[in-house]
Amino acid sequence: MVTVKTAEEIGLMRKANQIVRDSLSLIEEKIKPGMTTKQLDKMVYDYITGCGAKPSFLGYEGYPASACISIDEEVVHGIPSAKRYIEEGQIVSVDIGSIFKGYNGDAARTFAVGKISDEKQKLIDVTRQSFFEGVKILREGVRLGDLGHAIQSYVEENGFSVVRALVGHGIGTDMHEDPEVPNYGRPGHGLRLKANMTIAIEPMVNAGTYDVLMLDDGWTVVTADGKPSAHYENTVAITEDGVEILSL
Ligand code: MF3
Ligand code: CO
Repeated sequence: MVTVKTAEEIGLMRKANQIVRDSLSLIEEKIKPGMTTKQLDKMVYDYITGCGAKPSFLGYEGYPASACISIDEEVVHGIPSAKRYIEEGQIVSVDIGSIFKGYNGDAARTFAVGKISDEKQKLIDVTRQSFFEGVKILREGVRLGDLGHAIQSYVEENGFSVVRALVGHGIGTDMHEDPEVPNYGRPGHGLRLKANMTIAIEPMVNAGTYDVLMLDDGWTVVTADGKPSAHYENTVAITEDGVEILSL
């Protein structure tokens, strides 16, 4: 069931998303070669709990950490580890969720560690911009197929591919609510968005094929061809004439 939120509910989601945004800024500031992904995860846990919120990923379907940290060919859901060191030249996707007074925030960014290749930089830039290409057309009455098409066509024009196996989602009292929000689609198809619906839009963009595989840990999703992948996500509220991006 797709719900619309009250102004009060959107206010709580704004707060939850600001906590997520600020956690991401903290990681952007602290991330350095030689750190472990576990160290970054601890910073996220400490920051979110220090704000009086709860890290929503921790314990979600048994997930063991507060952040998902996915490096290079890892697409999403990389599990932080004390054995995994950040290295110069990598791109690191960090996905974070928080719950504040029962309402969810969810956002992700991909960070460059030191000097990265031109291809990786373009991948980060195109992934981020594909989100904003979607935002440009969004307003009440727009259909999910139109949104997916806007994201997909921008990514493909730039020579990259959009992951099909994972999609964005509605969000509110649950982290994952209806509807599914694909980053691909056919214009004129799909659910028509209404004002005060809240959705997480999260393009996952691969340098090579869009096919992905799951590692044996049961969480980490990697590209099938081993080429790099980037992720960019914000929670947004649909308005009559556009969107409010709650996690910026
Ligand atoms: N943040 C992811 C999403 O955008 C979900 C994380 S999965 C979890 O849908 F298990 F880590 F919570
Ligand atoms: Co999400």
